[in-house]
Amino acid sequence: DTSPGTDLAGLIAEVADYPTPGVRFRDITPLIAHPGGLAAAVEQMVAAGPRDVDIVVGLEARGFIFGPAIALALGAGFVPARKPDKLPRPVESVTYDLEYGSTTLAVHADAFGPSARVLIVDDVLATGGTAAAAAELVGRLGGQLVGITLLLELSELGGRERLTRLGFGPVTSVLTFGAS
Ligand code: PRP
Ligand code: MG
Repeated sequence: DTSPGTDLAGLIAEVADYPTPGVRFRDITPLIAHPGGLAAAVEQMVAAGPRDVDIVVGLEARGFIFGPAIALALGAGFVPARKPDKLPRPVESVTYDLEYGSTTLAVHADAFGPSARVLIVDDVLATGGTAAAAAELVGRLGGQLVGITLLLELSELGGRERLTRLGFGPVTSVLTFGAS
């Protein structure tokens, strides 16, 4: 950590009952608004994950905040995994359930070649549905998944176990928040 004094966990705001009752939302916007916070988060996400990466796949929307910065640090390309009807050319897509609601992620079918070493980047791992959908997409394109990097992992929601059960990983996160 080259940013001593930056308490990353302390820069994440907790919002009760958002966006639906019973959900405790972790808001990363104070962290990314803090210049030292953003730099430290990106640096630690890079340090925690694999180095030999051809393509970073960032997951809309919050994975677009960290993914390109990590791709630059690794000398990798960036591929956006997008919500429905945003990509103009033929896509592969997966629909999945969220902690609140359901949605679809899509990538351009020709986004990377079959030998590409692919790192998935997102902000938060909760149930793992989003990351699992992205990992499924990487496999459909023939990419080689080399890791899944998150800023924050909500351990009580079982995302890591779900990804491991599906054979997706390794999973690395900078911060882990438990039930308390
Ligand atoms: C949030 C978060 C992760 C996902 C984690 O995204 O940014 O992508 O949920 O939840 P999961 O592990 O249970 O799938 P969300 O779909 O709310 O939208 P956003 O990134 O566009 O804000
Ligand atoms: Mg998201």
